Amino acid sequence: MRILLTGSAGQLGQSILALKPNSINHTQVELFPLTRDELDLADAIACQRIVEQIRPDWVINAGAYTTVDKAETEQDITYKVNALAPEALAIGLRNYGGRILQLSTDFVFDGESNTPYLPENPVAPLGVYGSTKAAGEDAVFKQLNERAHVLRTSWVYGPAGKNFLFTMLKLHLLKSSLQEPLRVVSDQLGCPTNTLGLANVCWKLIERKSKGFEIAQILHWSDSGIASWYDFAVAIGEFAKDLGLINNSAKVLPIKTADYPTMAKRPRYSLLDSSATCSALGIEPEHWRKALFSVMSDLKTSNLA
Ligand SMILES: NC(=O)c1ccc[n+]([C@@H]2O[C@H](COP(=O)([O-])OP(=O)(O)OC[C@H]3O[C@@H](n4cnc5c(N)ncnc54)[C@H](OP(=O)(O)O)[C@@H]3O)[C@@H](O)[C@H]2O)c1
Repeated sequence: MRILLTGSAGQLGQSILALKPNSINHTQVELFPLTRDELDLADAIACQRIVEQIRPDWVINAGAYTTVDKAETEQDITYKVNALAPEALAIGLRNYGGRILQLSTDFVFDGESNTPYLPENPVAPLGVYGSTKAAGEDAVFKQLNERAHVLRTSWVYGPAGKNFLFTMLKLHLLKSSLQEPLRVVSDQLGCPTNTLGLANVCWKLIERKSKGFEIAQILHWSDSGIASWYDFAVAIGEFAKDLGLINNSAKVLPIKTADYPTMAKRPRYSLLDSSATCSALGIEPEHWRKALFSVMSDLKTSNLA
């Protein structure tokens, strides 16, 4: 089974590489991981061409323009990477039978719900990042119909890459040394999702599909539980101290979104209902605090440099 992975140097990409199975359904897995140097996702022609050359059974499109605030002023490149690239990858697959697993986001929703979003809920993105990701979802379905799968997730962090976990670890170090509080938004609710659990879902989906299971076209996945960014920051400080990653954690103070203005508007509530994914793939998510502790247990102080 030939699998092409985009964004292989990203947070999720690295975990997908780390969890690659040797075989799926008795067929050897041949993975073609591509970094930015090997494939520029802003180049639609190159995206289509590489798929036609490699002829993968699956494309896992983990590459994306993920800098949510910068996307507001870089609409053109964001659209190319998040919408036109998946479309071009799907066009490449269209002619010979391959499938795409398109990663997407809770930011396709406006956050006005008070109950976890179901895959069939209508999208209503608030900003450029969310709307280009929603356009990427539409594009893969338009090109491939049932051969396209969209997996939406939220608040992704992992043991490598740029993410909230590392930002907060550095801020805990800095603010505690200055004896200053760390102010973090407490009125946006969602759920952190660790990349290893998410990568496992990607591989499970491909495995189940190759065994002939029916899998819904749109799936949701996050770790379980609910958190604000404030809760997430407090837990990071607590665990980092317990695990000896830092000597002291900063005092975390809850603030309102209005007190921390950003370029992009964010959903105030973006919990995803993962129950259909659990039944389809026969797996359960870990609680976000348990998953966070486990990811942080494998970190070394050198990771914070
Ligand atoms: N991060 C989150 O909180 C979050 C939340 C919900 C959904 N998601 C979705 O989950 C998926 C994985 O996200 P992630 O957190 O792993 O993101 P990430 O760490 O930012 O990785 C994205 C990857 O895309 C690559 N990329 C960006 N522009 C490119 C271009 N023009 N050409 C080639 N490669 C390019 C990046 O390359 P470089 O390494 O060279 O920069 C990076 O390796 C994405 O679809 C994202 O939209 C993420």
